[in-house]
Amino acid sequence: MSSASILLSSDAVAQQSDALAQLPLTEVLRWAWDTFGAEAAIGTSFQGAGLVMIHHAVEAGIPLPVFTLDTGLLFPETLELKDRLEGFFGITIERVVPELSLEQQAADFGDALWEKRPDTCCQVRKVEPLKARLKTLSVWITGVRQEQSATRTGAGILERYLFDALLERYILKLNPMTAWGREAVWEYLHKHGIPYNPLHDRGYRSIGCLPCTRPSGEDGSERAGRWTGFEKTECGIHTFLPSAR
Ligand code: ADX
Ligand code: SF4
Repeated sequence: MSSASILLSSDAVAQQSDALAQLPLTEVLRWAWDTFGAEAAIGTSFQGAGLVMIHHAVEAGIPLPVFTLDTGLLFPETLELKDRLEGFFGITIERVVPELSLEQQAADFGDALWEKRPDTCCQVRKVEPLKARLKTLSVWITGVRQEQSATRTGAGILERYLFDALLERYILKLNPMTAWGREAVWEYLHKHGIPYNPLHDRGYRSIGCLPCTRPSGEDGSERAGRWTGFEKTECGIHTFLPSAR
């Protein structure tokens, strides 16, 4: 099994990224599995892109692990969907949970932290748990698409991701869905009868935690319904924020 460190010079990553951009999705996932095995894993919030990747992997018999960050504040519809997807795909989806329960978070930082300091809340409930999971991986596979928002137009298929600034630890981030448009994702889900979050049919184009997600119209960024009323547009897992504590 080769280690991510072999690929970690930025030139090598850029070269590999160009090569992967020429391959169909299944082959990109196969490369990740053949090269890194279970040190490559798909992280999903069960929105369209992640489901398309999981379906391709399952159909091709590529047993990449799949995990989700369960903040404890997800919509009930999202949690039900997780169960349905496990049945549909015949896989287990690992729940990655924060160190602090919601009660402990309220005791340490105050009630409803998401209303006062959403960056800190995301740090505690998403970024830190993700970092802990990434410590065990060489490759984090995401469903990031360039079209999703202005902050993502530059996303490449393969990137270096600094997940520990203090220790200067990098991991590879594989974004096989970068070039996929929203229409193509939805066409694929419908064609294959893949279960999806019913909130999408109620005007939610991008779905995260319940307190921070609103339906958004068809105008503007797909992610316009996230953290409405705050300047915030990213939870921090696709950027990098210093530690909260
Ligand atoms: S978010 O992090 O800012 O909420 P978004 O919802 O657009 O991101 O999803 C982009 C990608 O980030 C997903 O395809 C997935 O790879 C990853 N991601 C987002 N939320 C989660 C989550 N709760 N669990 C695992 N991966 C996630
Ligand atoms: Fe907290 Fe909202 Fe971030 Fe979820 S999206 S972790 S509730 S601030």
